[in-house]
Amino acid sequence: MWAARRASQRCGSVFVRRLNVLSASNTKPFYVTTPIFYPNAEPHIGHLQTLLIGDIYARYNRLARPWNPVHFLAGTDEHGLKIQQAAAAAGKEPGAFCEELSKRFQELAEAASIQSTSFVRTSSPKHRKVVEHVWNELTAKGLIRKTTYSGWYSVTDECFYTKKQVVHAPTPENPEARHAIATNSAVEWHEEENYVFRLREFSEKLLEHYNEHPNSIYPAQYHLDVVQYLKAVIDGAQGEGLDELSISRSIDRLSWGIPVPGDPSQTIYVWFDALLVYLSGVGYPDFEGAPKDLLPWPPNMQIIGKDILRFHAIYLPSILLALDLPLPHHILAHAHWTVDQKKMSKSVGNVADPMKTIADYGVDKVRWYLARAGRSRTDVDWSQNELEKYSNEIQSLLGNYVLRVTSKKLFKSLDGTQEMSIKQIYQHYKKQDDSKSKSLVDLIDTQRTTPARVKHGIENLEIAEAVRALVLLLREGNKTLTELAPWKKNTPPELLYANYVTGLETLRIAGICLQPFIPSTAEKLLDMLGLERERGRTWRAVERVGGTDACERVKKDIMDIHGVPLFQSKKPLPATVAKPV
Ligand code: MSP
Repeated sequence: MWAARRASQRCGSVFVRRLNVLSASNTKPFYVTTPIFYPNAEPHIGHLQTLLIGDIYARYNRLARPWNPVHFLAGTDEHGLKIQQAAAAAGKEPGAFCEELSKRFQELAEAASIQSTSFVRTSSPKHRKVVEHVWNELTAKGLIRKTTYSGWYSVTDECFYTKKQVVHAPTPENPEARHAIATNSAVEWHEEENYVFRLREFSEKLLEHYNEHPNSIYPAQYHLDVVQYLKAVIDGAQGEGLDELSISRSIDRLSWGIPVPGDPSQTIYVWFDALLVYLSGVGYPDFEGAPKDLLPWPPNMQIIGKDILRFHAIYLPSILLALDLPLPHHILAHAHWTVDQKKMSKSVGNVADPMKTIADYGVDKVRWYLARAGRSRTDVDWSQNELEKYSNEIQSLLGNYVLRVTSKKLFKSLDGTQEMSIKQIYQHYKKQDDSKSKSLVDLIDTQRTTPARVKHGIENLEIAEAVRALVLLLREGNKTLTELAPWKKNTPPELLYANYVTGLETLRIAGICLQPFIPSTAEKLLDMLGLERERGRTWRAVERVGGTDACERVKKDIMDIHGVPLFQSKKPLPATVAKPV
């Protein structure tokens, strides 16, 4: 209580903006989704970013509400023209082509310690049934009709653009060439018989929803973009083509997909098919018979790259409104990893290989870099130097610190008779005014506020902010150790003890809070500290900073904790601690 109260006082205003990223009720499972990947080529770092954010939220929820089930959906988006063409180019049958590449995404998830609870492939019979079911429901409601549809189609983006969304960019080979303004992807004119969904019917309701839920799309800029877009659609200012969404293609053009129920001459549009994965992944339509208060639907959090906002913020919710289903609580759109300021993408060919990077650096160093440097608002250039810098940072700040705090040599004179709780240490040294005492007091203050700061970052969808709070704690821990210099012969035993105990407490707090970000390293650390799995590693345990649990344990096991290297690095250690930015 003592510690928790102080922590909340210190962070004061930081609680004001908190979003509801935890499960909305005590019983509703937490449901987090990532977009499902096109298996048209090997995965790249951008895909891992999306998966990692999903994993961080899933793991955080398991820590914060251990009694609440977590559903975490990932998968592959296997139909459509893009896949059909990629398979043809590879001289393979699309099914076998997807099978092979879908495995690469599953292998990446495993290598990156992504703990998804389901990995859905849209080519699965279970998913197909759900798509057919939804199609039939919408048809029965009179929301689907067949008509002649025309527009500029991009195979890369798998969507139509209106006249105003494309630009004429003639080349010597193709004087008629055009591309989409938003993505630079080539487009071609399509005009054919299609089924369309009456999107416009839901614009007012959707706008009302977004106006009532200003936190439903994050960062706020994307919320604003969606609201403005909907207003423009309602005012009829966006031009033709937005009132209805084309949701099928002629089978002559697209054969790789789910046939339209009752009309085998048409294949269902890949995005209509793909977006329903969020429903099929949790057993829609009967949700596998889950009782009402245990229904996983709707998603608490949908992680997406900023390029696919329109599909998740407009198309999916419109379909859900048509089905009378509740809307997802939050969409978190993240910015892109770029190379020389260009989006890293398979079509451009400028990709960084996540499997190789993980093999070279170890999974947690790659996770650390992505979480520390990735942003929701601004694109970040992928850089080997930065990866190196952040990889050294965590190794020095945490790896080397563990070895120093648990060094038998440094603390060999302690025999357990100097016992003081962290609270007593705090009260004792607060009264002194030398620099060593101040350093100890500052460290305990930082310990108290860190969990709240990490939580604040996570709950406000600012992953990098959460990670930075842990960097600051570890810097403070390292600084205190250096300031107190336990290796000096004349260090008084009670100061030595205070140094040791606060060092272990720093590691306990860092270890618990690091679990969502670098889980294998955190587990190694918490195992070494001997923290009990069931209760000792939860968010509740970390909020009892300096509480008796930690101190009792430390007193009991004093000098029984042996430092183990947390990181196996092929690279030489830097001479100094890397400075966080
Ligand atoms: N298949 C669709 C999603 C359907 S969801 C019902 C798709 N697939 S994708 O493979 O192109 O992209 C999957 C995710 O990876 C998207 O969130 C996308 O934004 C993300 N990224 C792809 N390239 C990226 C970067 N260069 N940087 C960060 N994330 C990027 O879209």
